[in-house]
Amino acid sequence: MNTVLIGSQWGDEGKGKVIDVLTDKADFVVRYQGGSNAGHTVIAEGKKRVLRLIPSGILHEGKTCVIGNGVVMNPLDLIEEIDQMRATGVDPTGRLFISTRTQMVMLYHRALDKAEEAARAPAKKIGTTGRGIGPAYAAKVSRTGFRCGDMLAKNFLEKVREQVVETNAKLKMLKAERVDEGDAIEVPGCTIKDYQLDPDEIVAIYKVAAEKLAPYIKDTVPMLHKAKAAGKSILLEGAQGTMLDIDFGTYPFVTSSNPTSGGACIGSGLSPRDIDCVVGVIKAYTTRVGAGPFPTELYNAEDKQDPDGKLMAERGHEFGAVTKRPRRTGWYDAVVARYAQQVNGVDYWAMTKLDVMDPFPKIKICVAYELDGQVIDYMPTSADELARVKPVYEEMDGWMCETSNVTRIEDLPPKAKAYVDRLVELSGGKLGILSIGPARESTLRIAL
Ligand code: IMP
Repeated sequence: MNTVLIGSQWGDEGKGKVIDVLTDKADFVVRYQGGSNAGHTVIAEGKKRVLRLIPSGILHEGKTCVIGNGVVMNPLDLIEEIDQMRATGVDPTGRLFISTRTQMVMLYHRALDKAEEAARAPAKKIGTTGRGIGPAYAAKVSRTGFRCGDMLAKNFLEKVREQVVETNAKLKMLKAERVDEGDAIEVPGCTIKDYQLDPDEIVAIYKVAAEKLAPYIKDTVPMLHKAKAAGKSILLEGAQGTMLDIDFGTYPFVTSSNPTSGGACIGSGLSPRDIDCVVGVIKAYTTRVGAGPFPTELYNAEDKQDPDGKLMAERGHEFGAVTKRPRRTGWYDAVVARYAQQVNGVDYWAMTKLDVMDPFPKIKICVAYELDGQVIDYMPTSADELARVKPVYEEMDGWMCETSNVTRIEDLPPKAKAYVDRLVELSGGKLGILSIGPARESTLRIAL
């Protein structure tokens, strides 16, 4: 059984926890897109860990983890993560493999990400994580990127030097175009003076990185197909979410990859025929971090202060796992969920954070949108249209008692069960998992 797990909203649905729970039935866990813009939080045996690149399967003994070709991998972040793993007693050697085809995020991609964002007018800012994701995918598509296998080649460092010199020329232009106050752009791990990187310093950094990562680099396509042929089960782990997909999300306020289930094949080398099941992780309310339209938004750090949204943010600890930015919060949007069900082919929902909704006397669900006076039940194509829609709500009674101590779905308060049933009914698919707290143990497994 090979399963793809995707985020159904704007990321931060709690995928880290669900992947961790589902890993017990998997032999291989493969990350298929995104980079260290993601932060998958896992709480197990009282310890909290945030994984950015390494699949969380690494925390389970005997599981093999693969960073697939669809990922953009920052070698320095990966080395840091491997070191952190080792410090907590988990040695990834022999269990972690990076595809020879995986594109690399270089320090100069991070510099470009920051310089490009600083050159965007306020209304056009994407609010990127500053992790170099967009520039790394742009390099991939324009066929100038480095793949991990290139780190093993003799002329790697020479090519790195050439690219630093080329990037310095681009950075000079971006400096002239910047609209933000101040001169500096900063990237941890290297020196940037007056928007310029030092080629010698960058080359020295990648010399060490290539040596450290060499043992993990492998052609993972035959490896996965051999595993499949031997009847092993593979869990494909998406990062971000459907509404941040470069094709299906709220373009241009999106990430630069395909978090949707189609991306799993492209990003791993498995074929569509190899996928048996799609699990959509979805929160019992909605959040978004970064810029872009969000129809059911109630609360954000700048100009929306609805107390219901504030309560969601507080109870749900809605701060970015990587960037620490406060997330925007709002009611559950069933238009988003239905769209996610369609474009991903969700078989089962893993619904998370139901417990966050415990104290609300009344809970709203967005069932449709009103766009320019017309009621629509589908996702508009453009971000401008989505910014104009007004949510059409239905309202349900809250249950106003704690759910996090429940151990069987039948024991949920009837009003909480009715809310979950209604969300599933509106969204399509079936309920597979219900999560009622951050720990591994606070999980009701219904069908998965
Ligand atoms: P980028 O992926 O850093 O280019 O950022 C593009 C958009 O995706 C921004 O709005 C980010 O806030 C958002 N984003 C990227 N990664 C994540 C994530 O893991 N969770 C939630 N939002 C994300």
